[in-house]
Amino acid sequence: MSESNNKDKLIILGGSPLIGEVEISGAKNSAVAIIPAAILVEGKCVIDNIPNISDVAGMLKILTTLGADVKHINSSTVEIDCSKMSQHSAPYDIVRKMRASSYLMGALLGRFNRSSVAMPGGCDFGVRPVDQHIKGFETLGATVNIEHGMIDIYADELVGTNIYMDVVSVGATINLILAAARAQGTTIIENAAKEPHVVDVANFLTAMGANIVGAGTDVIKVKGVPQLGGGTYSIIPDQIEAGTYMIMAAATAGDVLVKNVIPKHLESITAKLLEAGVTVEEFDDSIRVTSNGKFNKINVKTLPYPGFPTDLQPQILTLLTLAEGTSIVTEGVWDNRFRYVDELIRMGANVMVDGKVAVVEGVKRLSGSPVAATDLRAGAAMLIAALAAHGVTEIHDLTHIDRGYENFEQKLKALGAQITRRNGSRKKKRTG
Ligand code: EPZ
Repeated sequence: MSESNNKDKLIILGGSPLIGEVEISGAKNSAVAIIPAAILVEGKCVIDNIPNISDVAGMLKILTTLGADVKHINSSTVEIDCSKMSQHSAPYDIVRKMRASSYLMGALLGRFNRSSVAMPGGCDFGVRPVDQHIKGFETLGATVNIEHGMIDIYADELVGTNIYMDVVSVGATINLILAAARAQGTTIIENAAKEPHVVDVANFLTAMGANIVGAGTDVIKVKGVPQLGGGTYSIIPDQIEAGTYMIMAAATAGDVLVKNVIPKHLESITAKLLEAGVTVEEFDDSIRVTSNGKFNKINVKTLPYPGFPTDLQPQILTLLTLAEGTSIVTEGVWDNRFRYVDELIRMGANVMVDGKVAVVEGVKRLSGSPVAATDLRAGAAMLIAALAAHGVTEIHDLTHIDRGYENFEQKLKALGAQITRRNGSRKKKRTG
């Protein structure tokens, strides 16, 4: 992962259609769950199709700090061996920036019957509770204490049981699969999340010897096994990266073949782009998006999978700022995921936000201006706006985009985008 500096900025000259082919990387949200899942495995896990992004580098670093042996086989393959790990505590300074560090709770608990993990951080979309994770651990027989910013969990023995999730949560579903994989007896998770990365984590654990059925449906059955051995596994393509390039192609009146995708995972995005008047052709493992730059107004509501993903809400809303007429975008997952809208307004967009609903009045064009990437997907939205806008846009706060999009500058340049990164000033080391 190239070193990213939050003082770096991107300079983008908009207005060129994106044309050509782009290869989608492994899924970020699978990788950041599968890497901690390796804690449950006493043996070597070779994990392929790992995206080269800073969130993955961060998660690998956390595992190394906890005592895992991590080897990079090549740029997209790592070997993780947690056989000798004995540490069950992940304090604030090592986990603070990563929401996905919450997976350490389930993984360490499942391996050692105890875990002590600092409250997770991550993108700020309003309150990000962990009550469903905790309820699940307690139902499995654990005692949970929250003190001094740490979540301490302990069980004499984890015992499989029925757990009904009050909200559909990706993180809680994955955490309970992790905690149950080596528990006594069978755990049944009801009202489980069905996202592709939930299935990916279950498939990874199954490849390592776990007994999990039903992932991808709302009832997941985990029959605990005493031990998990090693094995090899390849991560699925990133649904959100693919959807982001599909929307970029549409917004720039481009013609892009998005390769190495699972079209089934992209159905909700394909459906919305077709409704907006964009041409989308599906092949076995690729999708071609072509557009003349004219879009119809549409309404979008984000929902858990297979609904329209919240992680593509900022990107689709950005496209709709250029549609004819008024579109309504409703955020159905997070309390507050429209903070980036102020940045789009700087570029000439006409958007009004009221709570979880945004009313988007299409404008003829956006114009380049300095903007900030306020979080990861907001950063992707700024890229889309900048590529479609007239004139030059400067995007600041790039660390957010670097967290989740592999080689995005190179991929965009190869599609004809006029994009340059300017390194921000770094403090010189004092010597003497
Ligand atoms: C995952 O976050 C993703 N992160 C997010 O993607 C994504 O936006 C989100 O799922 C929804 O799809 C990772 O996979 C690392 P949740 P997660 O638990 O697991 C409520 C990105 O941009 N909830 O499914 O943290 C919660 O408040 C990131 O790649 C509870 O009420 O999300 C929210 O409204 C950002 N109690 C809803 O459920 C809980 O205990 C969904 O959250 C847990 C969640």
